[in-house]
Amino acid sequence: MSLRLSRFVGHRGIAAEAPENTLTGFRLAAEAGFLWVEFDVMLSADDVPVLHHDEELGRTDNGSGPVAVHPLSALKALDAGSWFGPGFAGERIPTFEETIACCRALGLSMNVEIKPTTGREVRTAELVSDMLNDLCPDLTDRIIVSSFVPDCLRIAQEKAPDFLRGYLSDTMAEGWHGAAKDLGCFSVHPNHACLDAGLVTAIHDAGFRILTYTVNDPERAESLIGWGVDAVITDEPLAAAALA
Ligand code: G3P
Ligand code: MG
Repeated sequence: MSLRLSRFVGHRGIAAEAPENTLTGFRLAAEAGFLWVEFDVMLSADDVPVLHHDEELGRTDNGSGPVAVHPLSALKALDAGSWFGPGFAGERIPTFEETIACCRALGLSMNVEIKPTTGREVRTAELVSDMLNDLCPDLTDRIIVSSFVPDCLRIAQEKAPDFLRGYLSDTMAEGWHGAAKDLGCFSVHPNHACLDAGLVTAIHDAGFRILTYTVNDPERAESLIGWGVDAVITDEPLAAAALA
């Protein structure tokens, strides 16, 4: 399989310019020139994969309480745009299925981060894997499935083996290499704060590509790219324009 990474990946769509994890965010990311976007997937109470970063509603919408106790109908009634700006009023929390269709139509490749709420790790990974197999068998060269939760990557490895996996890590603590290898990962996705030139070389020497998050400072992006990282996940369209 030949997967073509781009140097920049729009984080949660294009989080500096549009409400995160929304279809408008993906449209604006595409308009800004991004070829890849990252987004976060968790389950509604009735087991529908939806896009949301936080376990709790409230920061990025006008809801309250855990996402996991709200059925899709309740999540769809929320306004996920006004918090960001009045021009985004009425934006809805998208389902994973709607997001796949949107990104497909826009020609965007997808970094699907499985971001389960506590206790729903297995079910989230199973349903995301099923949906990838059902809806995207033709997009295996345009999707990377990542997670901070090794169990989610293990389930993706078992249930959706045709899709590439990325090992997300905030610290790159000892053991990352064995874990990423056992999970058959294509890439490692470290927090940029834990990277230096030596670690970039070590990750590449171990056979993994590197997508690092979340880099909004153009100088930092330039350093990371100079060390050889394959992609920088960023909220900022300006970074992409400056370094494209
Ligand atoms: O996938 C990269 C990045 O999104 C991981 O952190 O918390 O922004 O989902 P977070
Ligand atoms: Mg994420």
